[in-house]
Amino acid sequence: MKMKSLKSLDVRGKRVLCRADFNVPLHNGKVGDLLRIESALPTIQYLLKEGATVVLMSHLGRLDGKPDSKYSLEPVAIELSRLLDRSVVFIHDCVGVDVQERVAKLEPGSVALLENLRYHAEEEANDPEFAKQLAILGDVYVDDAFAVAHRAHASLVGVPRLLPSAAGFLLEREVSTLGDLLKKPEHPFVAVIGGAKISDKIPFLNNLVKKADTVVIGGAMANTFLAALGHDMRKSVQEKSAYKQALKFLAEARHLGVEVILPVDVVVADKPDAHKSRTVTVGQLEGGDMALDLGPATSTLIAEVLHGAKTIFWNGTLGFTEEKAFSAASLDLANRMAKSDALTVIGGGDTAGYIDSIDMHEQFGFVSTGGGAALELLAGKKLPAVEALEI
Ligand code: 3PG
Repeated sequence: MKMKSLKSLDVRGKRVLCRADFNVPLHNGKVGDLLRIESALPTIQYLLKEGATVVLMSHLGRLDGKPDSKYSLEPVAIELSRLLDRSVVFIHDCVGVDVQERVAKLEPGSVALLENLRYHAEEEANDPEFAKQLAILGDVYVDDAFAVAHRAHASLVGVPRLLPSAAGFLLEREVSTLGDLLKKPEHPFVAVIGGAKISDKIPFLNNLVKKADTVVIGGAMANTFLAALGHDMRKSVQEKSAYKQALKFLAEARHLGVEVILPVDVVVADKPDAHKSRTVTVGQLEGGDMALDLGPATSTLIAEVLHGAKTIFWNGTLGFTEEKAFSAASLDLANRMAKSDALTVIGGGDTAGYIDSIDMHEQFGFVSTGGGAALELLAGKKLPAVEALEI
């Protein structure tokens, strides 16, 4: 798939309507993680350097199509202004006559951010009239919102039908890096997959198993695999309805000659915020034990397969990383990936958030800003927002 590139779009002196993904965590009205805002900066700075006026739009959170001040993008405007070191005009809605007037009055070369697109149900309904209302606000359209590219929403697929359009630098880089990962990975290719749910990841796992040499399974997802294989995982989080899918995946991997690493030991406690934990061999969980991290013997197995890998992809934390006591396996993996000579790629919102929380972002080849979008792309699916920009 080939999208029109930003550098081939004439933006000089134009008003550029730019779709970003500023769907960031908010804590007490403040932005909790800057990754998505920082990742949009190269496109915004390029547009400003080219003399454009930049009108940014985004969604934030999951709403029921009505305004809700808890999900206002105003805190994002504050951070953006700090990061760009210039003022960012915040406009309290995204469509309507007032918004049109405010946008028309913007100083040439300035930056504005519109209020949350999901304050209007028409955004997710991909309403053509709503897309028209948005399109009025720009001369041209730039999409840099990779993390939401799997949604066929008005701002993503409706607007590019109405304005000359191009992909921003982030969208372009995400699509090419993640696309190449499955098209032409350098072998040995090791994929480490964690997180909670298999059901969310099955299409992606089924595609991955055709490309990787080794798949490591961790996180709560591993509990489902181990239980499906007959281990008593006691009170560990697991998905009983996914046993069949787990066994099918293992059979397919065997058939394709792909090595699958499952935990051989786990760190258990009786609850995620417990003060006391112990490490046990898989098969020896007792009473109310919950597996909350991989044990050191499993981390050693992972270290062995990472050794000599040319491509390492990681999606999903390996333990309950909200608690330091259950972060050892994820931290060990992050450190080993950071030291590896392989191409290291992190995919998925939670994993990227974890990497940021331990301040290691810069130590990886590529950290994707996308959760669902990255998984859909890696499952081999076409992303509607990318298709809308294809030439
Ligand atoms: C994300 O955080 O994955 C994207 O912003 C998409 O959000 P959504 O799943 O609410 O559409």
